Amino acid sequence: MARKKLIAGNWKMNGLLADGVELAKGVAAEVKAMGKPECEFLVCPPFTLLTSVKKALRGAKVALGAQDAHFNTKGAHTGDISPEMLKDVGCQYVILGHSERRADHGESNELINKKAVAAHQAGLKTVICIGETLEERDSGKTIDVCSKQIMGSVPDDSTAADTVIAYEPVWAIGTGKTPTANDVEEVHAAVRKVLAKKLGKGNANKMRILYGGSVKPGNAKEFLSLPDVDGALIGGASLKVADFMAIAKNSGC
Ligand code: PGA
Repeated sequence: MARKKLIAGNWKMNGLLADGVELAKGVAAEVKAMGKPECEFLVCPPFTLLTSVKKALRGAKVALGAQDAHFNTKGAHTGDISPEMLKDVGCQYVILGHSERRADHGESNELINKKAVAAHQAGLKTVICIGETLEERDSGKTIDVCSKQIMGSVPDDSTAADTVIAYEPVWAIGTGKTPTANDVEEVHAAVRKVLAKKLGKGNANKMRILYGGSVKPGNAKEFLSLPDVDGALIGGASLKVADFMAIAKNSGC
């Protein structure tokens, strides 16, 4: 089953207007220069940059995504942004349930599920993040934790067309540490099995499962050539055009 790889940049809380536009323009120019890349590209800037980045990406095959959304369409939710608002400014994707949101904002599987339902209803594709902490890994609970996160945070009617999973071991994010390729493949294969149980084999076989956590130009090939790894969610290295594009190129895009 051929799944088109997704190379996704999670800019997190980085970038003032000028930096964000420059970064987006740089990515756009490189992707255009690739002609017909084998991969899909996605950048997820902070909310404040969405409109400007959308403009900067004009004409390039790079999708725009946000890093979170509320589960309501509008109303009295100070500081929140709805999926409709994201769609309105040109987003096609939204990242949900990143471990930083699970940790910093106490987001539960149940809440992430509600957000994903709302995002799908608004016509957004979701990148739903899962991953174990170091403590959970050390006690042999990785697959159990990831399975529970999938079962709880992925809506029952999700399809391969509207949902991407990102496996990001919490201890590998921003640390320069990574699991071995064998460990990554083991988790991805297990995640695909859980997806098959939840969403049916057809969806599970077509659904993209990204790896995230200290992906760099130097390790991209090792991870992205694994049979069940369908792309990368890239934090730190997505803030430099050269690194982001090197990851894509080293992954065969
Ligand atoms: P990192 O972040 O690439 O900086 O480790 C990945 C992520 O959190 O999405």
